Amino acid sequence: MLDYGGQYSQLIARRVRECGVFSELLPYHVGAAEVARRNPKGVILSGGPASVYADGAPPLERELLELGVPVLGICYGMQLLARDLGGHVQGAEVGEFGRSQLTVSEPGRLLAGTPGEQTCWMSHRDTVFSAPPGFTALASSTASPVAAFQSLQRDVYGIQFHPEVVHTPYGQQVLTNFLADVCGCERGWSATSVIEDQIRRIREQVGEGRVICGLSGGVDSSVAALLVHKAIGDKLTCVFVDHGLMRKNEGAQVVSAFRDHFKVPLVAVDASERFLAALRGVSDPERKRKLIGAEFIRVFEEEAAKLEDVQFLVQGTLYSDVIESGGGTGAETIKSHHNVGGLPEDLQFELVEPLRALFKDEVRAVGAELGLPERLVWRQPFPGPGLAIRIVGGEATRERLDILREADAILQDEIRKAGLYRELWQSFCVLPDIRTVGVQGDSRTYGSVIAIRAVTSDDAMTADWARLPYDLLEQIASRMINEIRSVGRVVLDITSKPPGTIEWE
Ligand code: XMP
Repeated sequence: MLDYGGQYSQLIARRVRECGVFSELLPYHVGAAEVARRNPKGVILSGGPASVYADGAPPLERELLELGVPVLGICYGMQLLARDLGGHVQGAEVGEFGRSQLTVSEPGRLLAGTPGEQTCWMSHRDTVFSAPPGFTALASSTASPVAAFQSLQRDVYGIQFHPEVVHTPYGQQVLTNFLADVCGCERGWSATSVIEDQIRRIREQVGEGRVICGLSGGVDSSVAALLVHKAIGDKLTCVFVDHGLMRKNEGAQVVSAFRDHFKVPLVAVDASERFLAALRGVSDPERKRKLIGAEFIRVFEEEAAKLEDVQFLVQGTLYSDVIESGGGTGAETIKSHHNVGGLPEDLQFELVEPLRALFKDEVRAVGAELGLPERLVWRQPFPGPGLAIRIVGGEATRERLDILREADAILQDEIRKAGLYRELWQSFCVLPDIRTVGVQGDSRTYGSVIAIRAVTSDDAMTADWARLPYDLLEQIASRMINEIRSVGRVVLDITSKPPGTIEWE
C-alpha cells in the first residue's frame, strides 16, 4: 500500500491483513523500484487529504502502473488514476462526507457478489465525473457520478468510497475481491503465522550473543520478550524495574508469568524507594515525568552492567511506530505521545525488534498464541510514569499512591466484573491534591476525592468518555468510600479528547 497521507491508511493495511494477505504501508514517494523489490501481488493507493489539483499534491508515479501487478486506487488514489489516465476529475460544489448510497451499474471484478444498492462511506470533495478512456464505470452515488471503475486491460481499479471503515458494510468483500480474485493472493497470512519466521530471524540476528529486555508489564514488551525467549532461550535476560508506581498486584503478575510460568531468566528490581525519594517534594507533572524517566534509565543501566557480554536489547516497537516515525508522508496527524520511561538512544546495544511488522491487535494475537495470560494480553495501555502522574497537582507520596492504588483496584475489579474491560481503551482513577468535606456516621469528615476516568478510543489521539452504567458507577463509588478510609468523595470525568486529554496531567 502506498500512503498518500490518508487518515485511514493504517486501517486499510490492517483490513488487508484481516483478509489473510500480508501488507506493508510505504510512503507514496518510495519509488516504483522499491515497490518492485518487494515483489508485491498488487498495489493499493490510499486516500489522502489533498486535492489532486492542489500545488504540491502528491503525484502518481507512472512506473507503478508498469509493474505488471493490479493497482487499486482508493479515494485520492482513484482520483489520481482518473486524472492521470485521461478521465475527468473536478472539485464538486458540495463534498460528500459520511454515509452514501451506492448504485452498482455493473459489478465488474471489484463489486462482484455485492448488492445493486448498498451503503458506503465517503469523504471527498474532488469527484470523478468520467472514467478514463478504456475504463468501465461500475457504480455511482448521489454526489459521485463515477464511484468505482475498472480497466481489465490495464489491470487498474478504483473506488471512491472507503472499504476499510465499518460504515461500508461490503467493504471487506470489495477488498477480498481485489486481493483474492484480481491479485490472486492466497489468504494464508496471519499474525501467528509469522511466529516461526520471527524466531528464525531472531536466531540469525543474535547468534550466540546475549540479549537484555526491559519488561514493563505491557503487552508489547511481554510479547517481544516471549518471542525472543522462544528463539534463544536463556541467552535472554529480562529486567523488570518496579518503580512503585504500578497498579495493585501488577508487578507480582509480571514476575509470576515470566519467572514462574515461562521460566524466563528475570531480574526483578524493587526500586520503589529510589523513585519515591526522587519524587519527594515534586508536584510539577513534567518534572515528575523527567525524574522518573531518568531514574528508570539509571536503574536499567545498573542492572545491564551486572550482566556480562550483553550486545542486544529487545524493544517492543510496533508497525504503527515504524510508520509514524519513518513514514515521512506528511500524514495529517499529530502524534502527541509522550514516551517517557523509554530507554535513551545512545545505549550501546544493537536492537532486536520482533514486532516491527505487527499492529497492536496482531501483537495480542501472537501473545495469546504464545500462551501469555489473558490479563497481560488484554492489558489497557498504562503510562510509563505510572500512578505518579495521576496524583494531580501534588506530590506522589507513598500514602497517596496507596490510596490511589486501592481505588484503582476497585475500579478495575468492578469494570472487569461488568465485562467492560476490553471495551474501554483505558479506565483509571485520579487523585487530585485536595480534600473535601463529608459526613459519615455522626461526624464530619475531610477526605480525598477520587475521579473516575474511563474512555473509549482507537489510538489515544482522540477519545470519548465512556458511558458507564449508573448502577456500576454507584457500586464503584460506594465501594471506594466504604473500603478506603480516607476517600470521602467520588466524581466522574465526562470530558472527551479533544478538548481534554486522557490523563489529567
Ligand atoms: P493524553 O493524556 O495525552 O495521553 O491524552 C495519550 C496516551 O498516552 C499515555 N500517556 C503516557 N504514556 N508516558 C507514557 O508512556 C507518559 O508520560 C504519558 N502520558 C500520557 C496516556 O495514558 C494515553 O494512553
